[in-house]
Amino acid sequence: MDQRDTDTLTAGSAEVVSASFDRTADPRLRRILVSLVEHLHGFVSEVGLTESEWATAIRFLTDTGKTCTDTRQEFILLSDVLGVSMLVETINNPSGGGLTSSTVEGPFHLVDSPPRELGAAISEDGQGEPCLVSGRVTDPDGRAVPGATVDVWQADAHGFYDVQQPGMYQEGTLRGLFRTGDDGEYWFRSVVPRFYPVPVDGPVGALLRATSRHPYRPAHIHLQVDAPGMRTVTTHVFVDHTPYLASDAVFGVKEDLVREFPVVDDAARAARVGLHNPFRAVRFDVVLAAEPAGPASAVG
Ligand code: BEZ
Ligand code: FE
Repeated sequence: MDQRDTDTLTAGSAEVVSASFDRTADPRLRRILVSLVEHLHGFVSEVGLTESEWATAIRFLTDTGKTCTDTRQEFILLSDVLGVSMLVETINNPSGGGLTSSTVEGPFHLVDSPPRELGAAISEDGQGEPCLVSGRVTDPDGRAVPGATVDVWQADAHGFYDVQQPGMYQEGTLRGLFRTGDDGEYWFRSVVPRFYPVPVDGPVGALLRATSRHPYRPAHIHLQVDAPGMRTVTTHVFVDHTPYLASDAVFGVKEDLVREFPVVDDAARAARVGLHNPFRAVRFDVVLAAEPAGPASAVG
């Protein structure tokens, strides 16, 4: 841009601000900043943002930062409820071709899951509806992946994670790190989780209230599955028919991740797997992409 061009532009216009990044050494950084400026300016112009609205936005972002601690990330929650976490996640992870879809990791994968033997119970007895969770980890050709790690974490039957109720459970309850057998199978005993609200006592909660949005996530179990030579998938299995399946506060539901958790009334099987009869059961097979994976398929 020469001097004459610059003079004809409004001071502080998107073009002038974008040009200020012309000497950025890192081309990717330049591209991101230029596009950010263009979209931000476009947004401000489009809605005709008032000074008082801009001051409110600055206050909101300041409060969001102040709400963050070592164990709470209000900016991630903001990104979650605006659908940005899911967008970033979707454009960066392969999908289709039978691969297991990924979804948001969420803020409750804070602590390491305890390594457990296949079949172990991750919940405490008598705390909810007993549930058998099992599945097989395979590659895209259906070959078993032995020795895959299956890291699981979930809310309890009341919709709370262990870290939200310090002292209530033994450490590692509702979490487990399993390793698939030679047949690629994993299984563990748990309880059916309940739907729950994302944290609403901060600025993001205020945003949800101001927009008459509910804060709930449908009931789900988190899984992060990893194996040498394969691409890690961070995902959930959602309980079919749970409330909020069609209106997840963080937009994390993908249809292929929803499963029935039918009631099994079979005393012999219950005894074999070590659960009270009747129990619920879900099967969730996981198909991992081989590494290195190409770029994610198109969004949407
Ligand atoms: C979760 O599923 O744990 C979660 C995800 C996003 C925001 C809050 C919670
Ligand atoms: Fe969750």
